[in-house]
Amino acid sequence: MSIFKKKPNEEAIVIDDRLQHIAFIMDGNGRWARRRGMPREYGHRAGSKVFRDLSIYCGDIGIKVVTVYAFSTENWKRPQKEVDAIMTLLEEFLFEALETMKARDAQIHFLGDPSPFSEKFRALMEKTERESAENHRVLNIALNYGGRAEIIRAANTAFTEKGGEISEDDLERHLYTSHCPPPDLIVRTGGEYRLSNFLMWQSAYSELYFTDKYWPDMRHADVDAAVREFYSRQRRFGGV
Ligand code: IPE
Ligand code: IPE
Ligand code: MG
Repeated sequence: MSIFKKKPNEEAIVIDDRLQHIAFIMDGNGRWARRRGMPREYGHRAGSKVFRDLSIYCGDIGIKVVTVYAFSTENWKRPQKEVDAIMTLLEEFLFEALETMKARDAQIHFLGDPSPFSEKFRALMEKTERESAENHRVLNIALNYGGRAEIIRAANTAFTEKGGEISEDDLERHLYTSHCPPPDLIVRTGGEYRLSNFLMWQSAYSELYFTDKYWPDMRHADVDAAVREFYSRQRRFGGV
């Protein structure tokens, strides 16, 4: 159990084993920027700052696994200029991520298919994963990730390996998330009430939390609100 003290007049945040994994669908960057009369890329830059800040904050309050949805398999449909801007931001993050994550005792994992990325970018992803592997917390970055593609890939690999009918455990071993428990809580910002192909298998029993706030507007207090809401819910996993 971890107790994170807030300001003297605020209630502390207490995290126990019921909440090991929080996942974020970071949505609303584009609308946040448009509302300011700025190009969408401006929103992605603001969003990437919030991503850095909140992934550290979640670790500080005692969350073991944090997953963020950074780029979906469908996001290639966006204008090239926007895709390029997102990739540049990710690259900037990766250049500093190793140092930040070492200091925070977090390993980085990428969820998704890396094959469309440049050799240079893939090498950076591999280096980041490899050199952070000894750390204890987990930061998963879903990048060129799609839940359906992940399930098909896992099923095919498991089936080939086994040479016959596979079980749920067989499939889970081949998901991108085989190193961590499924998300206890999924937070989606930006006011849309859907999963958009995120962790389709792993979300079967996740608690879902939606907020209208755009991702760049998310602050520590908003994470606290989602955590408090999570602890007010009763998870039954099909029982009574
Ligand atoms: C960020 O929000 C999510 C990414 C795909 C990087 P959006 O870019 O989807 O912003 P909105 O939803 O258009 O406002
Ligand atoms: C989901 O957001 C993907 C990420 C946050 C990376 P989208 O903006 O792509 O989802 P839709 O299009 O609203 O479903
Ligand atoms: Mg969106």
